[in-house]
Amino acid sequence: EKGGYEHFMLKEIFEQPKSIHDTMRGRLLVDEGVIKMAGIWDHVEKFKNANRIIIIACGTSWHAGLIGEYLIEEYARIPVEVEYASEFRYRNPIITDKDVVIAISQSGETADTMAALKLAKEKGAFIYGICNVVDSSIARITDAGSYTHAGPEIGVASTKAFTAQLTILTLIAFKLGKHNGNLGNAEFMSLIAELDAIPKKIEEVLNTTHELTQNIAKDFVSATNFLYLGRGYNYPAALEGALKLKEISYIHAEGYPAAEMKHGPIALIDENMPIVIIAPKKGHYDKIVSNVQEIKARKGKVIAVVNKGDQQVSSMADYVIEIPETSECFSPIVASVPLQLLAYYIAVYRGANVDQPRNLAKSVTVE
Ligand code: M6R
Repeated sequence: EKGGYEHFMLKEIFEQPKSIHDTMRGRLLVDEGVIKMAGIWDHVEKFKNANRIIIIACGTSWHAGLIGEYLIEEYARIPVEVEYASEFRYRNPIITDKDVVIAISQSGETADTMAALKLAKEKGAFIYGICNVVDSSIARITDAGSYTHAGPEIGVASTKAFTAQLTILTLIAFKLGKHNGNLGNAEFMSLIAELDAIPKKIEEVLNTTHELTQNIAKDFVSATNFLYLGRGYNYPAALEGALKLKEISYIHAEGYPAAEMKHGPIALIDENMPIVIIAPKKGHYDKIVSNVQEIKARKGKVIAVVNKGDQQVSSMADYVIEIPETSECFSPIVASVPLQLLAYYIAVYRGANVDQPRNLAKSVTVE
């Protein structure tokens, strides 16, 4: 059932061209220039008139939520807040019937997310679910929702569910933006054409980075710490890269917005500190260049994820992982794939139980 792969996680990483495609199927109609999402469309006035959207999730799904915030604020210009479900539920949050709450959950069974939703529902908010498991508890309690259709995810470390969540959030942002007039038709058409091509780009990334990430991984089997840095859309991608590594390899890893480095983590940098930096051309590239200079001045080991043909960051980096160029909003989907592979191979070379890391459960049904 692992389809010839050594672990479910690797199988699921490689399934992403298909799972992203499945998530878009029947929704993204490029030729007609339409995004069809009944759950959104049937309640579009709720979204349009919402004071704000609150995204609630845990773990990887929370990282997807952060990217959702960037997407929805940029393209639909609706204010978004992203909260850990566990914090939200216990802090007596202000929720009104003018709020729309979006819960993101692969399993649809996460206890904290479920409890946070019940609270939001009691207070009269409209609640929307983005779940992978069909008919799960969260899917059932929500007023409406969109399934991710990524297929069963067995590996405890979430991979294909994450990129499917990003796909749904992208579709929602574009659909709302088009509807409320913040996203003009020409830009909408070019963005959806690009989104349609993402599965192909992921396929390419899998082909070009599979062996490379294995080779890089070999050099970091004994690492004790890692930093992951990114800016803009790729800041949450850095958080997610770090979470993948710590979950399955048990190496301590932290994700930061690259500019925050100066406010503390820079003190950690020496020749023993590996730093994964996500540096695509579209996304504050010049700022990232200076961050890399600062790291190299302190002899940190830089593993850079850059666009094909990149020169500036690549010339300073110790290891270079190239990915195809995309609009900034799609870069976390593409950049996440080599980071999943890197975490996977570091864990495999350390002899860790990749699919079932110690102390972790696939769905966290207790708080
Ligand atoms: O099923 P959910 O998406 O609600 O799960 C949330 C987290 O428990 C989950 O993403 C966790 O962080 C994963 N192990 C990450 O790989």
